[in-house]
Amino acid sequence: MKVFVKNGTIVSETGQYQGDLCIENGVISQIGTHLEPASEEEAQVIDAAGKYVLPGGVDVHTHMDLLAGSSRAVDDFYDGTVAAACGGTTSIVDHMAFGPAGCPLHHQLNEYHGLADHKAVIDYGFHGTCQHVNEEILNELEDMMKDGVPSVKVYLTYDFKIDDDGVLQVLKKMKQLGGVTAFHCENHAVVQFLRGKLVSEGNTAPIYHAKSRPNLAEAEAVRRVLYLAKLAGDAPVYIVHLSCKESLEAVKEARAEGQKNIFVETCTQYLVLTEERYLDEDGLKYIMSPPLRTKEDCEALWKGIAEGEIQAVATDHCPFNYGKEKQLGKDDFTKCPNGAPGVEERMILLFSEGVMTGKISLEKLVEIACTQPSRIYGLYPKKGCLQPGADGDLLILDPSKEWVLTHSHMHSAVDYTAYEGMKIRGSIELVMQRGNIIVKDNHFLGKQGNGHFIFRKPLSLCE
Ligand code: URP
Ligand code: ZN
Ligand code: ZN
Repeated sequence: MKVFVKNGTIVSETGQYQGDLCIENGVISQIGTHLEPASEEEAQVIDAAGKYVLPGGVDVHTHMDLLAGSSRAVDDFYDGTVAAACGGTTSIVDHMAFGPAGCPLHHQLNEYHGLADHKAVIDYGFHGTCQHVNEEILNELEDMMKDGVPSVKVYLTYDFKIDDDGVLQVLKKMKQLGGVTAFHCENHAVVQFLRGKLVSEGNTAPIYHAKSRPNLAEAEAVRRVLYLAKLAGDAPVYIVHLSCKESLEAVKEARAEGQKNIFVETCTQYLVLTEERYLDEDGLKYIMSPPLRTKEDCEALWKGIAEGEIQAVATDHCPFNYGKEKQLGKDDFTKCPNGAPGVEERMILLFSEGVMTGKISLEKLVEIACTQPSRIYGLYPKKGCLQPGADGDLLILDPSKEWVLTHSHMHSAVDYTAYEGMKIRGSIELVMQRGNIIVKDNHFLGKQGNGHFIFRKPLSLCE
């Protein structure tokens, strides 16, 4: 059966045009004008007149079913991918949690296939998680590539942080393999010192979470990683959840000095929310690392997107219930599990807060939320673009609808949205994966287990 999406405004990273597209056996076979099915029986026809047709979103930073200390993120790969689908995201690349101390990379890969393979409703991949560095781990990076995982994440803070010698070794190895190393950048010693000091002085409210992780603690780590990547011969380096202007400055300076292969991600929350939220009664909802910043930082990030300094907007979706897990931090912010939901809100917030306010173009939205993340992490050209040969993953967006974002509209298992009450311009009307309608008018129509594991390619092999 063929599927025709007709009369819509088809948007790519480079332009938009009115036209039709045809999907055959889950793959886009034609894009053009006046495409018609040979007979009524032969095809399903969807009229997208007056609407935008965008590639399905690619969110390359989620944490489904993440086990963090004693708390587990409340979205498993079913609930979390249903939420993603309803928000117009049709592919995720999930950052796997830390495993037992000393475990090989494949320990978590096997674990995650077990968590996702029969549950995900959209297509998914995994990033490796490097929690110690030795000869075996460095060799295993190559096997991870052969298993469709050409990226690995290194944390510069938390329990399994990696020191500079380990960082350098991983960067060199990943460069040699054509893979990408992703970094959570915060200066661990600074954060530990400030947390200890604040708590010992009785400053335990959520706002002190932000005070314990200042902009410069992030920017210092970003600069350090960029220097190490340069030392490793301009090894590909991807900064996850960059949140502040000083970090962006570090990136710009490195690029101005000629350093190549630097990729930058920010997340929706750092564009839209500010640290005043920690002063609210429900400030625990926003405890995440890095923390929310200031309006000035948000503006610098939007500008960074518009000017091409930021390549990807992801979510770091990592939901814990406000009524339960988040309450662990009610007397002490350091006890609150870090993370917030967002996978469902990303695409529409970028449209409403970015495109409709004139901060970014619709083409830029497609670039940062679909095409570039797909390219960087080896999903392209199957994902993140609408062109012949790509998977029939798309969303239809009605720019004329206005609504208020509330938790009742959402599909995640979590008990809140960080964007409660926000006025939204634009609405995702339909989402398709490989030619199948999986969401219509905010109703999920897909099926558990229909998501495929995305066997990703190394950077050098990407077209
Ligand atoms: O607070 C956060 N971001 N939690 C998820 C893990 C991480 O640091 O990405
Ligand atoms: Zn992180
Ligand atoms: Zn994360």
